[in-house]
Amino acid sequence: MAYNLLKGKKGIIFGALNDQSIAWKVAERAAEEGAQIVLTNTAVACRMGTIDELAKKTNATIIPADATSVEDLENLFNEAQKALGGKIDFVLHSCAMSVNMRKKRTYDDLDYGFLSKTLDISAISFHKMLQVAKKLDALNDYASVLALSYIASHRTFFGYNDMADAKSLLESIARSFGYIYGREKHVRINTISQSPTMTTAGSAIKGFDGLFDFADRMSPLGNATADECADYCVVMFSDLTKKVTMQNLFHDGGFSNMGMSLRGMTQYNKSFIDENRDEKGNIIYG
Ligand SMILES: NC(=O)c1ccc[n+]([C@@H]2O[C@H](COP(=O)([O-])OP(=O)(O)OC[C@H]3O[C@@H](n4cnc5c(N)ncnc54)[C@H](O)[C@@H]3O)[C@@H](O)[C@H]2O)c1
Repeated sequence: MAYNLLKGKKGIIFGALNDQSIAWKVAERAAEEGAQIVLTNTAVACRMGTIDELAKKTNATIIPADATSVEDLENLFNEAQKALGGKIDFVLHSCAMSVNMRKKRTYDDLDYGFLSKTLDISAISFHKMLQVAKKLDALNDYASVLALSYIASHRTFFGYNDMADAKSLLESIARSFGYIYGREKHVRINTISQSPTMTTAGSAIKGFDGLFDFADRMSPLGNATADECADYCVVMFSDLTKKVTMQNLFHDGGFSNMGMSLRGMTQYNKSFIDENRDEKGNIIYG
């Protein structure tokens, strides 16, 4: 169902690779809500992925950019304003990559060249796009900028590797730039900390299926899907959240405030469930 929440708004969406990408779902929902959008990804991803299909569906222009290249970002923000006919109202940063993970380097055996790449692609690129946008004065007053994060930014999760450090930095950049851009242009900058989601980047995480299942069992509402994340992004891009900034917003079915759930405990200790049933075999919640 559409509510026209983004009617007349212009946005740039980074990171739609295929129809599983969270950015793909955000682009679809933003267009449904009346936004005009520019899609961007690396030149290789634009060639190899299926972004053309999304562009057709959402009536979007594609402008390739490597999010780590200031020159590419300058070109992107200039060309996007031309294509959309004005300044930008919202931006989604949905880019991440760890070469250490890809090469199966563990956290106590990191290659530091790869680590620099992880931090550049997954976090510093957020600073670069904000700095470029500000210098070009490319964002409208009260524009909304979002990046996607994960709870491993401040709690340790097996297998999340150097991406945990990247997410900590990403969330810190949202706070530091949020102060400056908010003070001067009322621009809102937030991160959304999303549940594990079945995507290309998600599947690169060691033991991802186990992580996905664990989070789902722990969350009273279950894992949030990519479509549900897109709904949340749309609200954050809309005028209904004008005073929300510098926040890391959990979109995780309640996972971040849980200690242990019955479903989690049951999996941990298969016999536990039997000790928590009444004579009729009904589960005693308590
Ligand atoms: N999938 C999950 O479980 C999950 C959970 C929480 C947060 N996130 C975050 O969501 C975001 C989107 O990931 P996704 O799960 O949709 O996976 P995805 O693989 O579909 O998207 C990652 C995107 O990053 C792009 N990218 C990589 N290097 C880039 C560069 N140099 N310049 C520009 N773009 C580049 C890729 O081309 C790809 O489109 C990431 O920040 C990820 O960490 C994912």
